[in-house]
Amino acid sequence: MKLKVMMLVAAGALLSVGAASAQDVEALKKSKGCTNCHDVEAKKMGPSYKELSAKYANDKDAVPNAIKKLKDGQGHMKVAATDDELKAMVESSLNKK
Ligand code: HEC
Repeated sequence: MKLKVMMLVAAGALLSVGAASAQDVEALKKSKGCTNCHDVEAKKMGPSYKELSAKYANDKDAVPNAIKKLKDGQGHMKVAATDDELKAMVESSLNKK
């Protein structure tokens, strides 16, 4: 786990100097294929992140619910990622922190 965090930090450092956690998550989503179906603004095969953020703006359980969907492959394609990665990607997709 520690190694993974260090790798993410290192990847972020290549993209820009300083804190780059948002960019790390973007890179992670790209590497996991999320961007094939999701775009920030435009609807692709999946809803845009903007649309999802609006839909779940008042849903405090949206993040755990979505993590479960992605993890179990129910109502969404199954995503192979660690719990921490899933949490980071879903939080960023739904604009929740
Ligand atoms: C094969 C296309 C595809 C890929 C790849 C994909 N998604 Fe999705 N995603 C969808 C579709 C379609 C929906 C809408 C499902 C629905 O309306 O129930 C969705 C919905 C979602 C939602 C909302 C879930 C909810 O509770 O309504 C989140 C969050 C999400 N995707 C995140 C991701 C992340 C993060 C990744 C990468 C790890 C990813 N998606 C990869 C197609 C995809």
